[in-house]
Amino acid sequence: MENKLHDYRKSYEKASLIRENLNENPIQQFRTWFYDVEKFGGVDEANAMTISTIGEDGFPKSRIVLLKFYDENGFVFYTNYESEKGKALLNNPNTCLSFFWPNTERQVIIKGVAEKVPEHVSDNYFASRPKGSQLGALVSNQSNVIKNRQVLEEELNALEKKYANEEVPRPKNWGGFLVRPESIEFWQGRPNRLHDRFLFTKSDSGYDWKIERLAP
Ligand SMILES: Cc1cc2nc3c(=O)[nH]c(=O)nc-3n(C[C@H](O)[C@H](O)[C@H](O)COP(=O)(O)O)c2cc1C
Repeated sequence: MENKLHDYRKSYEKASLIRENLNENPIQQFRTWFYDVEKFGGVDEANAMTISTIGEDGFPKSRIVLLKFYDENGFVFYTNYESEKGKALLNNPNTCLSFFWPNTERQVIIKGVAEKVPEHVSDNYFASRPKGSQLGALVSNQSNVIKNRQVLEEELNALEKKYANEEVPRPKNWGGFLVRPESIEFWQGRPNRLHDRFLFTKSDSGYDWKIERLAP
């Protein structure tokens, strides 16, 4: 059956975003919107976000990771530091995170600068993960070419035996990145493509935020 993509059309009618209702603090605004996703329901992983990096080959690349923590300092996710994204961020920490929440017809785009979280923060988070996920992190040299799936399964079996009665240590090449935001854009779908967009940009002092409305 032919997919008539030009007939995919949707009017965004669920909400609006006006200046008076915006929180002056974009992290608080993000928190409100995040709770709304949970409240409306129907989105499985509200914390799934796209992260774009600039690779050493000069190309941007985007993929999904899971937001695990956020506060005034920024947004934290966990990965392999030697993966393609890990190497990209360590070489060029400028990055972009974005969320699309279809149930509330909203998008958030965060530009920022990534840094490794302190070792003890990664240790604590790693220790909180189920054993299967911990072993998975040990098994996978994320983003490297492998011969087949069997290689992974054999390695997992061996590690399951090795750590049957022991705690799994965090691999040193696995941990968190904190993305400190420089700008945060909030996008609310509206009818007739006249969407609401507000851009928060961090002031030079780094303490407050300039707020501007953008054309849709
Ligand atoms: C829903 C979802 C959640 C994911 N969460 C993570 C994550 O938190 N950390 C991670 O390293 N990869 C995660 N991945 C896998 C990444 O998208 C990606 O395949 C992997 O990190 C390798 O990316 P890279 O080769 O560009 O570094 C997730 C994928 C999906 C679809």
